[in-house]
Amino acid sequence: MKHKILVTGGTGYIGSHTAVELQNAGYEVIIIDNLSNSNESVINGIEKITGIRPIFEKLDCNDKDGVEKLFSEHPGIKGIIHFAASKAVGESVQKPLLYYRNNLLSLINLLELMPRFNVEAFVFSSSCTVYGQPDVLPVTENAPVKPALSPYGNTKQICEEIIRDTVYSGTPIKSILLRYFNPIGAHPSAEIGELPLGVPQNLIPFVTQTAAGIRKELSVFGNDYNTPDGSCIRDYINVVDLAKAHVIAVSRMLDEKMKNPVEIFNLGTGRGLSVLEIIRTFQEVTGMKVPYKIVGRREGDIEKVWADPEFANKELGWTAEESVADTLLSAWKWQQRIVSQG
Ligand code: WQD
Repeated sequence: MKHKILVTGGTGYIGSHTAVELQNAGYEVIIIDNLSNSNESVINGIEKITGIRPIFEKLDCNDKDGVEKLFSEHPGIKGIIHFAASKAVGESVQKPLLYYRNNLLSLINLLELMPRFNVEAFVFSSSCTVYGQPDVLPVTENAPVKPALSPYGNTKQICEEIIRDTVYSGTPIKSILLRYFNPIGAHPSAEIGELPLGVPQNLIPFVTQTAAGIRKELSVFGNDYNTPDGSCIRDYINVVDLAKAHVIAVSRMLDEKMKNPVEIFNLGTGRGLSVLEIIRTFQEVTGMKVPYKIVGRREGDIEKVWADPEFANKELGWTAEESVADTLLSAWKWQQRIVSQG
């Protein structure tokens, strides 16, 4: 058995896929999650895929005493992958203090507790949202961080700064900041996937729910952008590929392979796809119809963004491997599983 890793937000979408890949790689996984946006049954899915039931505790990272107790009860945790955060862009505009409290305090609690329990490695779940609309595409890690368009986006920027300041203060913590582009799809087993509560805000769950007849039609937010077909362009990355990058990041830290105490990597495919291309590909690979209409632009949307993943490819030896077709198929398979389970 390799080292013990704490995964915060580990019953969530990306967290659960990462827990699977960590266990597949031999790590011992301890998950904490406050279940505000996920369900404990996800632990069953992780166990079904890997044959191992991770340790799970319902715990909020804002509960510092609770997290301290967890570290005491599970000595020897070597690293943390910190997913736990509020992530709805629109909600963050309505409830900024909730977002600042949840996302900043939980980070501060973990960073304060780490040296006391000799935990040195910290992977942070960041976002390409920090680049805003980049001036140059594809976007590299050296592109400037632009003023955030939402409190949610701002929390990602501030969290990155808090981590950087803490590491460079001389505390024995090193960190890898992973800037995700648009994670989509589900585990090929369809045992775990994305479980949006209520009306999905993100494109793919809305597409799969529309194909399943749960939603009448998809609204495409704008076809008058400066892109080949007028709809927005994103870099959609398979969630299992993304999860694997976290395992590599953890090993890189624990094996002392980092070149700087804070490293930043873009996690994307390097390929941009428009909303209309996604709909077309989804229809082709699933054979399902996705009724849609073009509506006005969504406030705050970036016109086009895709990653330059070369630094991650070279330094981490990681590349996004799944095709978008297979990834969309996995999302559809997962949607069918949810429907069949009611
Ligand atoms: C993708 C494209 C929409 C829904 C957000 C966060 C980001 C991140 C991932 C989070 C856009 C279009 C969408 C719909 C549509 N991190 N769309 N109809 O906005 O790129 O990124 O989620 O945790 O920080 O900002 O992702 O999936 O919402 O949208 O036309 O019903 O699909 O306009 O072009 P986005 P998304």
